[in-house]
Amino acid sequence: MKDANHLKRYTYKIIANDFSLAGKGSSDIKKNLKILGIDPKVIRKVAIVSYEAEINMVIHSYGGELYCDIYENKIVIVSDDIGPGIEDVELALTEGYSTASSSVRELGFGAGMGLPNMKRWSDDFEINTQKNGTKIFMTVLI
Ligand SMILES: Nc1ncnc2c1ncn2[C@@H]1O[C@H](COP(=O)(O)OP(=O)(O)O)[C@@H](O)[C@H]1O
Ligand SMILES: [Mg+2]
Repeated sequence: MKDANHLKRYTYKIIANDFSLAGKGSSDIKKNLKILGIDPKVIRKVAIVSYEAEINMVIHSYGGELYCDIYENKIVIVSDDIGPGIEDVELALTEGYSTASSSVRELGFGAGMGLPNMKRWSDDFEINTQKNGTKIFMTVLI
């Protein structure tokens, strides 16, 4: 945020277990990036990583914030939650791995592809996780 090339930040509050709001933040980010005239290929990547990060906060955390920071040459999505943290990050990044409950799976979530896709579609991906929460930075170059 102290970077001189930082142009704009969008902030969304994410409520745990609120499936009526889930996806609102990432769809608003998508809309705003379109208005800014960002390349559709970049928007597509940002839409994927922000959606998966948002859903993960709804399902797996106690709540948090989703940020979209726009820089001259990149977009950084930050998910910052209070929650149980991720015990084994490498395992959590394995395709198909999920601790989602059966009730969450019935809603269509919990395929275990969120974190792998967040990593795949980011040009830079960084997770800081502890016993009281998780912060993830996903950079998409413009
Ligand atoms: N923000 C988070 N807080 C705590 N645990 C998380 C978080 N995000 C992901 N996880 C853990 O990593 C696992 C894999 O995440 P993901 O690939 O998105 O799969 P899914 O969300 O379908 O379970 C989750 O099942 C959960 O155990
Ligand atoms: Mg997920």
